[in-house]
Amino acid sequence: MFFTPGTHKNAGLLYNPFKALISPRPIGWISSCDENGTANLAPYSFFNAVSELPPMVMFVSAPDARKDAKQLSDDGHAPKDSLHNIRQTGEFGVNIVSEAQRTAMVVSSEAVSAERDEFTIAGLSKKQAQTITAPLVAGAPAHLECRLHDMISLPGTDERAGCIMVIGLVTGIHIEDTIIENGKVDVEKYRPIARLGYKDYTTISDVYELESHAAQR
Ligand SMILES: Cc1cc2nc3c(=O)[nH]c(=O)nc-3n(C[C@H](O)[C@H](O)[C@H](O)COP(=O)(O)O)c2cc1C
Repeated sequence: MFFTPGTHKNAGLLYNPFKALISPRPIGWISSCDENGTANLAPYSFFNAVSELPPMVMFVSAPDARKDAKQLSDDGHAPKDSLHNIRQTGEFGVNIVSEAQRTAMVVSSEAVSAERDEFTIAGLSKKQAQTITAPLVAGAPAHLECRLHDMISLPGTDERAGCIMVIGLVTGIHIEDTIIENGKVDVEKYRPIARLGYKDYTTISDVYELESHAAQR
């Protein structure tokens, strides 16, 4: 089968398979707060590490479909609340999603007004960060505190405006002591979840080592 982007239905596919092909994708559970201190929390699976030294991460925010033309920012983008907050404060937290918090993670993805705090909606407590003012998700196995490095506008399509890639420099790292075994983080202890295509998710539970000449630890 071959098709060009946007023509999957002509190729006999019910849904766009792109996300199912790039899978599993880690989930960045992004916490932020606005300039008045109202907290916000939402999952982003267009998320990854982009540099190790210094540690940097990125996530990509699609336009907020709820916003009309009057609510667009100067660049014409309809920002989701996370993006709006990060533009205001220049910082955000990344909370790692364990299997134990997967239901709360999905609840926090609900589209609610900016004044409503998704920590409360999802029944989550806040943990104080050390280098940023945005709160972190208590009970998450690890957190990255990030300072905004850059935002890059990505091109849109005929049907939809483009997305914004947010790149952050990691300024602080928290790891729960309980997930450290022999000086290494043991993912089997907290079972991170990741997004596949469609409505599918997976849990990391099968870990094996492969030696490579360029192995990095
Ligand atoms: C597992 C998961 C992954 C998601 N990944 C993204 C993503 O990469 N980019 C995006 O714009 N929205 C993504 N969403 C949708 C947002 O979480 C959702 O629009 C949320 O309401 C945004 O919240 P905010 O306006 O508080 O930032 C994802 C939702 C789920 C459940």
